[in-house]
Amino acid sequence: MNQVILTGDRPTGRLHVGHYVGSLERRVRLQNSGEFDEIYIMIADAQALTDNAEHPEKVRQNIIQVALDYLACGIDPEKSTIFIQSMVPELTELTFYYMNLVTVSRVQRNPTVKAEIQMRNFEASIPVGFFCYPISQAADITAFRATAVPVGEDQLPMLEQCKEIVHKFNTVYGETLTDPQIILPDNQACLRLPGIDGKAKMSKSLGNCIYLSDEADEIRKKVMSMFTDPNHLRVEDPGKVDGNPVFIYLDAFCRPEHFQEFLPDYQNLDELKAHYTRGGLGDVKVKKFLNNVLQAELGPIRERRKYWEAHTDEVYAMLKEGSERARAKAAETLRDVRHAMQIDYFG
Ligand code: TRP
Repeated sequence: MNQVILTGDRPTGRLHVGHYVGSLERRVRLQNSGEFDEIYIMIADAQALTDNAEHPEKVRQNIIQVALDYLACGIDPEKSTIFIQSMVPELTELTFYYMNLVTVSRVQRNPTVKAEIQMRNFEASIPVGFFCYPISQAADITAFRATAVPVGEDQLPMLEQCKEIVHKFNTVYGETLTDPQIILPDNQACLRLPGIDGKAKMSKSLGNCIYLSDEADEIRKKVMSMFTDPNHLRVEDPGKVDGNPVFIYLDAFCRPEHFQEFLPDYQNLDELKAHYTRGGLGDVKVKKFLNNVLQAELGPIRERRKYWEAHTDEVYAMLKEGSERARAKAAETLRDVRHAMQIDYFG
């Protein structure tokens, strides 16, 4: 079977290190593995509008920011098709047909939708478009016949809902759609990177993110201000590494080479953790190490981003070409769907 990746992000802000370890880094590895025949990476502007209907300028501005972040991380337009969701109107048509295969109560039970309704104070008046976004996400995935969807953990309920739609469609109209598999990060720490304030999620509205586009000194300031174990007051005190953001970030980012380069007194992270737990290791030393690790990882990303920032005309041209290619693929699937649904009246 053709191995196809489809994934994407809402263009509501610049991407941060949570996106990076949660999904972007993995996408680049999958892209370069040579195991995939087609890779589609979507900037989900239509989905972003489902809860930003009054702020189209915000969505528009962030299209280029997300595209720059993709290129900076190593998504290669020669290998991956990067496109803009709304430039592929076939996705909207598919969504409309899939809506008939999903009940209102099923969407209401989707844990991600539930959490978002709460977060956005939509309880009393949920926009219909927002409510339907899990269905539109199923259209995104199936339109490209995706076999693999590398995303963050929060997208798991969306994938489950998509699989249900695929099964229902194939049962009612005959085998047409491809069943996708979710690909989650293999490293636990990468599943959900906390904010620098220790809050469970990195989010722009909480102001607790480290962005891929942050300058070196911004990263350093953010790292030095990070929450740690609140009971680790003096260097001699024993500290806790579980739930300690600094150590979670190290779990996500640091490799043995980083010790040789920046902290040769320790062989590896286990030794560093043991010392912290025992007492006698100060937060500042650990934070300085984390800063070095992050600078080593994010420096080349920032430099690549700067290059593309100076060539945005090329980036828009790449998005246009990608959107055309994506549209051709989605149109093929839509043709099959219309045929299966017996609405292909003129042959
Ligand atoms: N929901 C994803 C996000 O919030 C974006 C997205 C839209 C997506 N359609 C998708 C992700 C299809 C994977 C597959 O970032």
